[in-house]
Amino acid sequence: MEEEKSDRTKIIDRHESVNGSIDSNTTVSSHVNKAVDYESISGPITYNNFPKDPDFAAVVREAELALDHGIVPKLSSKGTSGCYFMQDQEKKIIAVFKPKDEEPYGHLNPKWTKWMHKLCCPCCFGRSCLVPNQGYLSEAGASLVDQKLGLNVVPKTKVVRLASETFNYSAIDRAKARTKRNIYNRVPSVGRHFNRIGLPPKIGSFQLFVNGYKDADYWLRRFDSEALPESTAKKFQHLFERVVVLDYIIRNTDRGNDNWLIKYEPASTKAGSSQGDIEDAEWSMVENPEIAVAAIDNGLAFPFKHPDEWRAYPYHWAWLPQAKVPFSTEIQELLLDQLSDMNFVQDLCDDLYDLFKCDKGFDRHTFEKQMSVMRGQILNLTQALKDGRSPVQLVQMPVVTVERNKSTVGRTRADSEIFTQSFSHRAPFFSWC
Ligand SMILES: Nc1ncnc2c1ncn2[C@@H]1O[C@H](COP(=O)(O)OP(=O)(O)O)[C@@H](O)[C@H]1O
Ligand SMILES: [Mg+2]
Repeated sequence: MEEEKSDRTKIIDRHESVNGSIDSNTTVSSHVNKAVDYESISGPITYNNFPKDPDFAAVVREAELALDHGIVPKLSSKGTSGCYFMQDQEKKIIAVFKPKDEEPYGHLNPKWTKWMHKLCCPCCFGRSCLVPNQGYLSEAGASLVDQKLGLNVVPKTKVVRLASETFNYSAIDRAKARTKRNIYNRVPSVGRHFNRIGLPPKIGSFQLFVNGYKDADYWLRRFDSEALPESTAKKFQHLFERVVVLDYIIRNTDRGNDNWLIKYEPASTKAGSSQGDIEDAEWSMVENPEIAVAAIDNGLAFPFKHPDEWRAYPYHWAWLPQAKVPFSTEIQELLLDQLSDMNFVQDLCDDLYDLFKCDKGFDRHTFEKQMSVMRGQILNLTQALKDGRSPVQLVQMPVVTVERNKSTVGRTRADSEIFTQSFSHRAPFFSWC
């Protein structure tokens, strides 16, 4: 169904100046890792560098060291792209790495079904509302939004460069690496002139691995038959709202119940009490059930336009009973001040700009369109939070874009402080709810 745009336009004046603070953590590091088969010959080796986030840097370093010691990443059997489980030196999985060139439609995607799909059905492959082959930025962008808003449901994700024999390289890259290494071994005086030997590092998203979680689908089915204790159900509801907020803001087009994870540890008595003691155990001996969620696989978000197709790419959580509950005061308190502040929203756009601009296919105009969609989503969400609506009511609201106007000063066109809001009067998703 065609979108009817601009039925109603409204000019918003932004009076206050924008105070753009940039978190250098989120930018693509220009450094590359010293991986198992990547060696810098001229000058000192530099690493993926995250000076503002030493904890994250330490995990990346662990993965690099493991690669140095020949511990190779494992390709995930699930999914339609190159998704690798990175290990530490004890072979414990510590992160998930998704190289840009192995994304669903990247030229080195190791899963041939997508390649066939592209070949046999070129007119309907991909999602026409998304910037192609920038999934890794979408992954890192989702983490940025999550951190900035204090949602804390996305395992931290940043852009990293890594090389490994296990990754999918072209025959040419492998041959080049072999030749350089042979020359270096046989004629070191010539080999020393190479900038590097070994396979080229790949740019991609690096997401911290969370332990003890299962696909949301698994636990949601269990919760259907075994109701959660009241306090745990309340905590789960708050976490669920955070996933909703994240997905709505970034307009995630791929949130099935296999793309978020739940960790649930039912109540147990504290260590030391034997089975026989359980009945007599004091309540203080019983631990509260633990529940946590992780929103993974955020690579298909940040569209530059709302999906055209009616009911396309729905948020699958909208079918859950939790989606019918009005947003809590907890989430209102966390978000309303931030989201109603245009400077905060502009800061968020600036941080995303710093992240996205590092891609070699970056296009400023397309980025502005992505931000127009995101601002529109934030506008709707803010209204829904103010009105105490539920997630289902949120996804029924007509979608809106908020475009930043250009103003001409002399001969240069600059971003202005004026925004234009355009509503679409498409039938909303889930009109049957
Ligand atoms: N950060 C993570 N922590 C723990 N498990 C993860 C994480 N990311 C992915 N996984 C596991 O790997 C599987 C595939 O990851 P996903 O990001 O969904 O890749 P794909 O794009 O191939 O669908 C997930 O279903 C999940 O079981
Ligand atoms: Mg997935």
